[in-house]
Parts: sequence; C-alpha cells; structure tokens
Amino acid sequence: MNSFTYILFGATGDLARTQIFSAIYQLIKKNLLPGKINIIAIGRTNYDNDSFREYFLESLSRQKQKLSKKLLSQIVKNIFYFKGNINNPSFYHNLEDFLKQLETQGINCSNRIFHLAILPNLYKKIIENLGQSNLCKAKDTFTRIMIEKPFGKDKKSAKELDKVLYQYFNENQIYRLDHYLAKETVLNILAFRFGNGLFEPIWNHHFIDHIQIQIMEDFGIKNRGIFYTETGAIRDIVQNHILQLLSVITMDRPQKLDQAHIRSLRQKLIYSIKPYLSENKIKDSVVVGQYQDFKSEISETSDHNTETFAALKLEIDDPRWKKVPIYIRTGKKTKRKISEINIIFKKPPFKLFPEHNQESLPPSVLSIRIAPNEGIVLSFAAKIPGPEMKLQSQKMQFCYSTENSLLEPYAKLIFDALAGDQTLFNLSQDVRAAWRFIDPITEYLEKNRIKPILYLNNSWGPEQANKLIEKDGRHWIDPEYAFCTQK
Ligand code: BG6
Repeated sequence: MNSFTYILFGATGDLARTQIFSAIYQLIKKNLLPGKINIIAIGRTNYDNDSFREYFLESLSRQKQKLSKKLLSQIVKNIFYFKGNINNPSFYHNLEDFLKQLETQGINCSNRIFHLAILPNLYKKIIENLGQSNLCKAKDTFTRIMIEKPFGKDKKSAKELDKVLYQYFNENQIYRLDHYLAKETVLNILAFRFGNGLFEPIWNHHFIDHIQIQIMEDFGIKNRGIFYTETGAIRDIVQNHILQLLSVITMDRPQKLDQAHIRSLRQKLIYSIKPYLSENKIKDSVVVGQYQDFKSEISETSDHNTETFAALKLEIDDPRWKKVPIYIRTGKKTKRKISEINIIFKKPPFKLFPEHNQESLPPSVLSIRIAPNEGIVLSFAAKIPGPEMKLQSQKMQFCYSTENSLLEPYAKLIFDALAGDQTLFNLSQDVRAAWRFIDPITEYLEKNRIKPILYLNNSWGPEQANKLIEKDGRHWIDPEYAFCTQK
C-alpha cells in the first residue's frame, strides 16, 4: 500500500484548526485516501504527540460533523508533532532526523507534501530552507509543496516568490491554492452552466443586466491580527476568492473537460478584467471600509488603514460581457455570513402586463449560494392566483442539504495534491493575472493613505458601498433572504 506524509506548517494556527483537521478526518472517514497517511504537525507551541493529539481532537469536537470515536483514535495514532522555530536552518536538519527516527519505528515518511498554512511573509524563508535541506530530495518518491493564498502581496513579490520556488521545485511540484476553487458549490457551477442547454445561450450581455458576487462574514479578524493588518480584505479575499468565483461564473465554454484547458479559460477571463486606468476611475469604482472595533481589536494606537471591507465595480473586456457591470463586495463583522453569486437578468423588452405591475416587479435573479445553506435559487415572475393578471416574484430552489454531505474544500485539495492533480491549483500566471488587476488599487490606497470608512458591526458595510451600486440604478440583492435552511 502507498504511504503519504503530509507535513503541515502552521498546525496550531487558525486554518488548521477550523478547516484542515476536519478535512483530514473527512478524507479518512470517506475512505478517499489512496493509501496510508502520516501527518507531521509543525508548530511553535509546546506540545508533544499526546497533547497535540488532544488539541486535534478538541478542535474537531467544535465542528458540526458527527465524529466516530473509533476512527478518531485510529487517526491520531498517525499524527506526530514536531516543535521548533521554522526561521532557524537547524530546524530543518532536526526535522530530517525526526523523520528518520520515525522511519526506524516502521513509519514510512515517503511521498511528502509540505503544506504552508502560515503567515505569507514566512514562505520565502521556509522554501529556501526546505530546498537546501535533504527533506525534498527523495529520489523514488514525490515531494510537493502546497502554498496558501495570497501568493505574494503584489505582482512583483509574487514573481520573487516564484523565483525562490523555482530554485528548488518544478512547477508540477507547486500547488498554489485557493480553497474557494475546491468548494463543491463552485465546482458545480461548471456542471450547472454547461451541463444544461438552458443557460449557456442566455449567459451574455444580451440577457444579463449585471452580476453580483459577495463574501460576507459575521466575525472579525479573530486572532489573525498580524496576518490581517498586513493583508486586508482586498488581498485576502478579492484578489483570490472573488476573482476566482468571477472567472468560473463568466469564463467561456470549454471545448472539452480537460483540466488544463479549463484553467487556461479561467486565467484568460481574469486577464480580461478591465484594469482601472486612472485614480479617478478607482475613486469611482472602489469603496473600502473598516468595522468599528477593528483598531481596538488589534490593540494598536497607530493609524491603521487596513480595510476589512471592500466593494468594487468592474467590467470584463470581452464581447460576451460588453458593458455588463460586475459588483463585488466582501466584509468582516457583517450582519450574516454569506458567500453568494447573483446573476440579475434584464427585464423583458416588451410591456405586456399592466405597467405598474411589471415595473415594480424585481427582475429574474439566479442566486448561487456558495455557503452556508448551499443551493441555487431562481427568482422569477409568476401570476398571483385570482381573477386578475397580477404578477409576483416566486422562487424555485435546489438545496444541497437534501443531498449527500459536501466534501470539504481542503479535503478535495489534499486529495488532489496526493493524486498529483493540479487543476484546482493556480499556476504562477493565474496569480499574476489577478495581481495585474489588484495592484493599481492597493497602490492607490497605500500611496494616498486612504482611510477606510468606518462601518457598524453587524451591518452590511458602509453606506458608500450601497451608493456605488445605487448610482447605477441598481441595488444589492438582499443577502438576508434565507433559503435552504432545513437540514
Ligand atoms: C480565507 C481568508 O482564505 O477565507 C479568511 O483568509 C476568510 O479571512 C476565509 O475568513 C473564508 O473562507 P470560507 O470558506 O469560510 O468562506
């Protein structure tokens, strides 16, 4: 049987605790692994194997899924904690010795995947140290490296990071990840758009008025202050998750279900986002905000202009999407957690129904709820039963909650990385395409020290974000509309 070694940097961090541990559990529970997996958890906290295993179990118990005690006790036996300072080159030699020691106990440490789930400013150091050590030099087995977004803080630093990576790894060993691409609901967009004859013919500027994409979260930066103050909402969410959602929802129809081909279409789309060519254009198209408690949470008195909210209006330079505006927004500490894409269709070009009735009716909207309460809803006009021809908006819905439980995005990503499938990971050109659009915005904000507009906790962000869309005669689709709430 094959053996795999999953080496997790940042094993005591937020990402591991909230997403990665449960993904590992799910992979094993669903019997999806192609062999046996040993997990080397790396952190600075003073754990040993036993106490880290306790921490792993306690973290999992906070999550919603049902856990099997028997399975958990088997899983934790394959988890080994290794403590050390990852900035110190000797750490890597010690890690080598640690793996050798495990080997002498009959624990196979071949086929290594290093997952960097740590602060992005540590990537370079770790990559260099890994590359210079013997940890990545196994001949007969594979070595791969998974790197979290954001990859770099702009195009220049992304290129520099690539340069370091390429000294030690080939592109086919590098897995730049964006977990949004691996969400079941996002993968389904491809099936939904191209597996039905219904949508592709109307998926263009003739029929679509505009598109909205939003990722809102009802919590703040938690204990991720260092990461977040260096990153901000634009680099944390817009540059990657939102642009990837945009690419999947608007890319051209693939000629075949070939993964490299699909990836190139996503990339082409991101390259076609019209860059903002002047500061005035940025001022007109971008709103940044900060939730009221942010500064007190990071316990700093200094002037922090980190945005925890961003709303943007953009366009795609492509005949299919001629003049179709795309509105995006993302924020922390908003009223509710919701990730959703809305496709707003044009109203019928003829006036068949009594004017007051037809005019006041909202347009047909297709809502793709990425999370939570995953599903797809079509809002459309229907006749109110009764003697008169009066219309009202109705909804048809598909909910994932009635289907099998969803595979978690990190489970899919780890599964793919083990299988050597890079489809859902970004090539360096994908990352650069996104920075090409983002760089002028962050440069403008930083150069002019633009202060984000304060917004109330538990709101939908600053009023200016509403104005951004309302000045075009449109409005944000109500994110409070609850659907697929039954489990
Ligand atoms: C991460 C961001 O990539 O995505 C976080 O760094 C954010 O700030 C998270 O909370 C959201 O992911 P999800 O899957 O919970 O929507």
